[in-house]
Amino acid sequence: MATVRLGQKNRALTRAVPDSFDRALAKFFGSGPTDIPLAKAQHTAYCQALVDAGIEVTILPKDNDHPDCIFVEDQAVVIDGHVLLPVPGHPSRVNEQPPISEFINRQLSGTKICSMNGGARMDGGDILRLGDLFFVGRSSRTNDAGIEELQDLLTHLGHELRIIEIPDQALHLTSISSTPTDKVILAPEGFISKDAFGELPDGCEVKWMPAEEVYGCNTIGLPNGQVLVAEGYPTVLKTLQAMGLDTVLLDMSQIREADGSLTCCSLFF
Ligand code: GLY
Repeated sequence: MATVRLGQKNRALTRAVPDSFDRALAKFFGSGPTDIPLAKAQHTAYCQALVDAGIEVTILPKDNDHPDCIFVEDQAVVIDGHVLLPVPGHPSRVNEQPPISEFINRQLSGTKICSMNGGARMDGGDILRLGDLFFVGRSSRTNDAGIEELQDLLTHLGHELRIIEIPDQALHLTSISSTPTDKVILAPEGFISKDAFGELPDGCEVKWMPAEEVYGCNTIGLPNGQVLVAEGYPTVLKTLQAMGLDTVLLDMSQIREADGSLTCCSLFF
């Protein structure tokens, strides 16, 4: 998940692949999953990779009424122990949230949980964290009212927020970028303007990847020095290895068909 620092990634929530996964929304990277048993196997391998890295993983039961329910990252924003429950930007995904909010409520009892109201819309997949600097994508799923609510929370926490315009050919900010460490952003040429992230804190940088490896730019850095990477993106892989990270490759082909990336499938809290 994109809203926690590397050292805060101790526990993760995931959700099992529903039998209806072939009806998941698909418009950007894919045209819809075709092999649900393979999608389930890929998701199991993903959860196992997190467990193997020492993360405590909880898998919520599938919800066959919500084909996109595995993409838990979109449903809650957890920042430094504070929780903002967004109104998801696509109407078919709004009712995925209750089991996730109930779980978070139980796990983080005593934490103040805020919910978005009115016309505010946001998918958690539009938020990217680099250390204590935050970026939010203004996208087809995240509107200005949603961004304002995130801004209020980050102002309260003393963190800066910068807005990135998401091009029409992309779903979320994290569909096209990630922070494999607290100092590096991976982003594809041609999707985000070179100055979009602004001046970064000392020691931080954007590593620009070829446009054709856009999907590979979504990675999950872990506290043990590992980084989860989708199979098939050689420049991304070499870049991460050159940074001294221990790369763990995962086949994401069926999850990609539903426009899902690595970070979409987990919520760190
Ligand atoms: N299929 C993921 C999404 O559109 O939200």
